[in-house]
Amino acid sequence: MNATTFPPARILGIETSCDETAASIVENGRVILTSIVASQVDLHAQFGGVFPEVASRQHIRTIYPIVETSFKEAHMHLGEVDAIAVTRGPGLPGSLVIGMNTAKGLSLGSGLPIIGVNHLEAHIYSAWLHWPPLANGSSGGVEFKPEPQFPLIVLIVSGGHTELVLMKDHLTYERLGATLDDAAGEAFDKVARLIGLEYPGGPAIQKAADGGNPKAFAFPRAWLEDSWNFSFSGLKTAVLREVRRLQSVRRELPVADLAASFQAAVVDVLVGKTVRAAQALGAAEILVAGGVSANSALRAAIHAQAPCPVHIPPLALCTDNAAMVAAAGYYRFAKGQRDGLDMDVLPNWPLSEV
Ligand code: KG4
Ligand code: ZN
Repeated sequence: MNATTFPPARILGIETSCDETAASIVENGRVILTSIVASQVDLHAQFGGVFPEVASRQHIRTIYPIVETSFKEAHMHLGEVDAIAVTRGPGLPGSLVIGMNTAKGLSLGSGLPIIGVNHLEAHIYSAWLHWPPLANGSSGGVEFKPEPQFPLIVLIVSGGHTELVLMKDHLTYERLGATLDDAAGEAFDKVARLIGLEYPGGPAIQKAADGGNPKAFAFPRAWLEDSWNFSFSGLKTAVLREVRRLQSVRRELPVADLAASFQAAVVDVLVGKTVRAAQALGAAEILVAGGVSANSALRAAIHAQAPCPVHIPPLALCTDNAAMVAAAGYYRFAKGQRDGLDMDVLPNWPLSEV
């Protein structure tokens, strides 16, 4: 399947699976007409993580103004889109419901079809999007980066998931492996807290690591040689032990060195296994997506070590947004998917079951 064979369509995307409230309008799965993301990070920072009840109530306050602003920004009205794509799962149940009910309300009022999208699939399709958004959708004279080519090895690294997937065509996913315990982003968030950095931990560790020595501490790498799975709990425990040891001898924590050494251990395993999977399975290209794909050390290492072209979404599209939901929704729309008003959210929806 090639994008050029798909019929043109404009999709409104809605995303409320965790702590970002987002809406976007995307043309033909690649051209962003508008993408608005309202982050709740400041709201949750006081709790050191996402507080589900607070998240869903904030989505209620924010989602409608954001949808309205999206149409204003794109100088469009609802009648000018072809379908509404909404994140159905995985995610926080109470948060998913807000986006889902918004999509249903808009569908009921306009007659537009709704399409439930898997959040991990959406992260993958962020790599098809052109950045920055194009005013009035005018793509004349704009050079698009090449589309990812199949078979693709996909590494999804987010706050809730770490998965290695083989994609032989659009919308088909063969799960090779996943984390046995913590997700990569979760490990960043937990270790950040251990060494006294603020939430969200990923960006905080990256910043601290810039001034540190990645070889200062020899933290363990769980290679799990006989599988494509990952494990980060041993690494997290090793950092905890080191922090306790340093505290017991009343030494000030060398935060930059701890951050750099932890980050190096995560990146080594993520990149090492992804590269090996690409070689073993004869992948044409590699795609890395999800919040942790914003990490500069990970981006540099995968580009340096990959035996084939690598696609990583632009930074603005790595963390949660609705453009990626609209992009995935476009391919589902083209395939004929239409969901009913009785569609429920799926908080634990695996990518292999979409
Ligand atoms: O994909 P995402 O926005 O939300 C989920 O679907 O989970 O990912 C959020 C995760 C958080 O754990 C955050 O700490 C991590 O992505 N993250 C990073 C970076 N930016 C965000 N991890 C490492 N380095 C970064 N620069
Ligand atoms: Zn996400």
